[in-house]
Amino acid sequence: LKQVMQKGLLEGQLPAVTTNPNLLEGMARNAMPKNGFDYIKGGAGESATMDANRLAFRQWKLVPRVLTPTNPRDLSVTLFGKKYDTPLLMAPVGVQSLYHDDKEVGTANACAALGVPFTLSTASSTGIEELVQKSPAGPKWFQLYWPTDEDITASLLRRAKANGYQTLVITLDTWTLGEKFAERSHGGTPDHGWEHLKLLRKWWDGPIVLKGIMCVEDAELAVQYGMDGVIVSNHGGRQLDGAVATLDVLPDIADAVGDRITVMFDSGVRTGADIAKALALGAKAVFVGRPVVYGLGINGTAGAQAVLAGLLADLDLGLGFAGIKRISELQRSRLRRVRHPG
Ligand code: FNR
Repeated sequence: LKQVMQKGLLEGQLPAVTTNPNLLEGMARNAMPKNGFDYIKGGAGESATMDANRLAFRQWKLVPRVLTPTNPRDLSVTLFGKKYDTPLLMAPVGVQSLYHDDKEVGTANACAALGVPFTLSTASSTGIEELVQKSPAGPKWFQLYWPTDEDITASLLRRAKANGYQTLVITLDTWTLGEKFAERSHGGTPDHGWEHLKLLRKWWDGPIVLKGIMCVEDAELAVQYGMDGVIVSNHGGRQLDGAVATLDVLPDIADAVGDRITVMFDSGVRTGADIAKALALGAKAVFVGRPVVYGLGINGTAGAQAVLAGLLADLDLGLGFAGIKRISELQRSRLRRVRHPG
């Protein structure tokens, strides 16, 4: 990270991929197979929610500080009793073979090189065992698309546990596909309710996190049903188009349950400042999806690593300008909400 910082500063530029998300997307468009790029770039419907996710960040601004030495800054966070090097995690993204032959192994190795936890999707093109065999270093989390078949669910969780995955992420906003790519034949509509979470608790004795929580009522239910955390997420705007932006609901959810369970965040994070804003608004950690996979598509493992390193360097520099030495100092008082987003 220090190298990236120094190199970036010496050359007068941070890695372009983070300072200009549009540039990264353009590079990915050129580098990736068209169907892969179109699939990953897309939002549901008219992309109103995907756009709202980005615009929501523009309504909050960081307040700089001066003459406040912060070197060296500490980006580490503790989640569920484990210390992680960064507050940034890799979101579960399925079927990464669509984007590069390095697929999930490439992304996971890029994450491991920077201490970023990697989350393996149930829908991945690399098996639970294969992933940790080929990418043994670095923390791994497992994301469950919850099958209706109990034996399959139990077996997935057993395999994840046996292979050292630390945290279970249950994605709840994808019981059917909201995207334009949804096919009617898809049909997979698990009809789970809150009570069914008790089964998962029986099969998984580590931390369980619910992904796709977008309101205080559901966050309260997560607490009531003994969950360890939630990820405030609208799936990067790929499910309910017209849904509220994640940053617009984060503060209420963090205020309501943040002292009882771990509130995390994703959807639309593209810069270090975005990460800082979400953390200041109550998230304990932040996931990123598309940008890292664009990096993977552009240049495999090295590309994914460049994007992650760029994001972390951008965050680190931003914290310096804001006079913040460690993540716990990122409080809401370091932000202002503005009426002129831009
Ligand atoms: C996803 N996402 C996702 N989530 C999940 O729980 N399991 C999965 O398999 C996938 N697959 C997936 C594929 C693609 C192509 C995308 C873009 C997204 C959602 C993902 O975890 C995350 O919520 C969003 O990607 C976050 O938004 P950004 O960072 O992409 O804006």
